[in-house]
Amino acid sequence: MSHDEQINLKANTRILEVKGLSVNYGSIQALRNIDLTIHTGEVVTLIGANGAGKSTTLRAISKLVKLHSGHIYYNGRNITRHPAYKVVHLGIAHSPEGRRVLTRQTVLDNLKLGAYTQSNSADVKADINHQFGIFPRLAERRHQLAGTLSGGEQQMLAIAVL
Ligand SMILES: Nc1ncnc2c1ncn2[C@@H]1O[C@H](COP(=O)(O)OP(=O)(O)O)[C@@H](O)[C@H]1O
Ligand SMILES: [Mg+2]
Repeated sequence: MSHDEQINLKANTRILEVKGLSVNYGSIQALRNIDLTIHTGEVVTLIGANGAGKSTTLRAISKLVKLHSGHIYYNGRNITRHPAYKVVHLGIAHSPEGRRVLTRQTVLDNLKLGAYTQSNSADVKADINHQFGIFPRLAERRHQLAGTLSGGEQQMLAIAVL
């Protein structure tokens, strides 16, 4: 999330609202009429059986799959028709399961690539230092190839890249 966006967020605002979301894969209906409201500061967990539609819900919010119907609002803004790159620029980050780091790049290079929405190098540096504060293990290993990190360290990097 960009710093500007964070400053504008008030406590208890509806940061994410999903209304009547349905997603189809061909003739199969994966999601039917999902409603979801998340407030600032909340940590929300989606629980369900294998194939219940958890990943599809996240992919729909990130616009990685097409919505069949429904509306999505982020910080009061209707993002239903926004493409994925615009959703990212607004500050919604999606950390996929299974690490997904660039294994042949260093920790630092992965983080630099993850900071591509920042337009100046001082902001990139500040972002990366912020992540190193949260994940000191990554700071120690900044010049190590991401593929040689342990599984848990790679997942830390996958989160920090956001
Ligand atoms: N790309 C796809 N094409 C066809 N069906 C899919 C696709 N992705 C997911 N599905 C189906 O949609 C349903 C929901 O999947 P998913 O959202 O991945 O479930 P969960 O993450 O809860 O395990 C499952 O039945 C799955 O097989
Ligand atoms: Mg899943």
